[in-house]
Amino acid sequence: MSVQNPTKRLTAPDISARKGGDPIVSLTSYHAHTAAIADKYVDFILVGDSLGMVMHGFESTLPVPLDLMILHGRSVMRGAKRALVVVDMPFGSYEESPAQAFRNAARVMKETECGAIKLEGGARMAETIRFLTERGIPVMAHIGLTPQSINVLGSFKTQGRTRDKWAMIEDDAKAVTEAGAFSMVLEAIVEPLAAKITKSVAIPTIGIGASPACDGQILVMEDMLGLSPRVPKFVKEFGAVGKAIENAIRSYAEDVRARKFPMPENTYEVKD
Ligand code: KIV
Repeated sequence: MSVQNPTKRLTAPDISARKGGDPIVSLTSYHAHTAAIADKYVDFILVGDSLGMVMHGFESTLPVPLDLMILHGRSVMRGAKRALVVVDMPFGSYEESPAQAFRNAARVMKETECGAIKLEGGARMAETIRFLTERGIPVMAHIGLTPQSINVLGSFKTQGRTRDKWAMIEDDAKAVTEAGAFSMVLEAIVEPLAAKITKSVAIPTIGIGASPACDGQILVMEDMLGLSPRVPKFVKEFGAVGKAIENAIRSYAEDVRARKFPMPENTYEVKD
């Protein structure tokens, strides 16, 4: 007898098919328990390399190793049963050549069983996107502000603030679409340019600090929960989890110091 999982997980083609339809909802998650909660409400979960900064306290995403992405990818896959799970390729794991990208992306797919990978870069990554897609690896592209290029960009500033910069970003959008990406993240792109790109490409655009006109939106979960110490100005705080954690820890510390914890009814008695 074969046992099948009754829950059908969304796929990269399911996300592609949402172009121009109801907005695609997505969030980052790095752990099984937050993935299980998000799974009820989102279409895809991104195991973003932002985990390097958000969870591990690095100054940028550059130090994140592939093995760490795989570890978190596996946790998220254990928590989420319905949403598509996309795992980020970290800096240095794909830029050298299409062959390097395939080798590492195949490891991510095999070891996490996720449904797609994401990589940063536009026209310069088009050949790699085509190479991966033709070999069975769905790719989400990421253009505009690409945090792995922070040392070249100099700061996390909004892209396309002068019209002379638009053509390059539009070319990136066209190149990743033609190369076979199933969707693309538009990060920190001025609103009218993000809206223009969304209209002009055939695959869904997922905005983060871009435009409500994008086909979908993504946020870093800890940012929208009010759990990150610093958040970009476009992020709306949908929760006050940081404050709730602090209040709970303060109450616990007060109870321990006042010898109120554990409560007497919850202590073990010796039975003679
Ligand atoms: O790493 C990440 O979390 C991301 C999102 C911000 C899109 O790439």
